[in-house]
Amino acid sequence: MFDASLPIIAAPMAGGTSTPAFVVAAARAGGFGLLAGGYLTPDALAAQIEAVRAETATFGVNLFVPNPVPIDEGTFRRYAARIQADAERFGLDVTAAPLVDDDDAWHGKVETLLAVPVPVVGFTFGLPDGDVIAAFRRAGTRTVQTVTSVDEARAAAEAGVDALAVQAPAAGGHSGTWTPARPPAPISAADLVERVRAAVALPLIAAGGIASAADVAAVRAAGAEAAMVGTALLRADESGASVTHRAALADPARTGTVVTRAFTGRPARALRNTFTGRHDAPLGYPAIHHLTAPMRRAAAAAGDPDYLHLWAGTGYRAATAEPLAAILTRLAGSL
Ligand SMILES: Cc1cc2nc3c(=O)[nH]c(=O)nc-3n(C[C@H](O)[C@H](O)[C@H](O)COP(=O)(O)O)c2cc1C
Repeated sequence: MFDASLPIIAAPMAGGTSTPAFVVAAARAGGFGLLAGGYLTPDALAAQIEAVRAETATFGVNLFVPNPVPIDEGTFRRYAARIQADAERFGLDVTAAPLVDDDDAWHGKVETLLAVPVPVVGFTFGLPDGDVIAAFRRAGTRTVQTVTSVDEARAAAEAGVDALAVQAPAAGGHSGTWTPARPPAPISAADLVERVRAAVALPLIAAGGIASAADVAAVRAAGAEAAMVGTALLRADESGASVTHRAALADPARTGTVVTRAFTGRPARALRNTFTGRHDAPLGYPAIHHLTAPMRRAAAAAGDPDYLHLWAGTGYRAATAEPLAAILTRLAGSL
């Protein structure tokens, strides 16, 4: 299905990390990569697809499925007021910010991907309608659904997707949970794969906290066809992660990761920093994402890691600065 010789998939990482060069490097190394369509406009996504297609036919595209977590105006305003002191450091006033609940241009991106089909499309945050899954099937595109529980795995299998990305809570970035109000309980990737394997017959890709060849071997022994790694590649040469993010991952003074809603209103795993220590937002996605975005952009521009979403999985200390191919090959070990 993935036309890859290594059982390692470079995770889609939105926000500029999974660049075309990153996805091409994964394919050239014998693995597989997915562009991150989340947050991109349909035109920007189309341009990234063109850039990858000029180099390789082995790639996929990941999308955020609209599954909004509504927030009421009063709760939103109270959180805006709470973070104003932090925003003020960057000369910003967020107290009157509009409450934006958009769908991340979902329909436009689906149209783009159906107009010029790509080999693989992945979905996270929710399950698309059956007609969307069927349309991709007719277009010859294989679909991969991110799931975080056995229940989600069963529902995705019934909906007709071709494979599952089984994401454990050790994963960096947003949890793919369909129920952000009830985020998944702690479980290792191998144990979650074993449970999902017992419930569904689809090919499984294990994700979350996979940082060594031994971790890859463990999820394969549990029944996964492949391992998907994100955090292990954040410092790769081809990664689009910012200098500030890379430096924080390598900083011995950082004290681990935390699952937080502080930046986006949806649970996500990040390195602890001043902002995660000070706040935990109410549920409210994407409204809280839009509320904090200007502050995060300003922090990134200022190179300030303490007001940035430093997405990272629990295995972040194993993230190395070297060519992506070297990391994928090492993770594949003697497989
Ligand atoms: C910076 C970052 C951005 C991410 N963005 C996405 C995304 O756009 N879509 C998605 O399905 N998963 C996203 N994830 C989650 C990854 O796909 C994957 O599940 C996770 O990285 C695996 O765990 P690991 O980070 O411990 O390797 C992101 C993860 C990180 C670290």
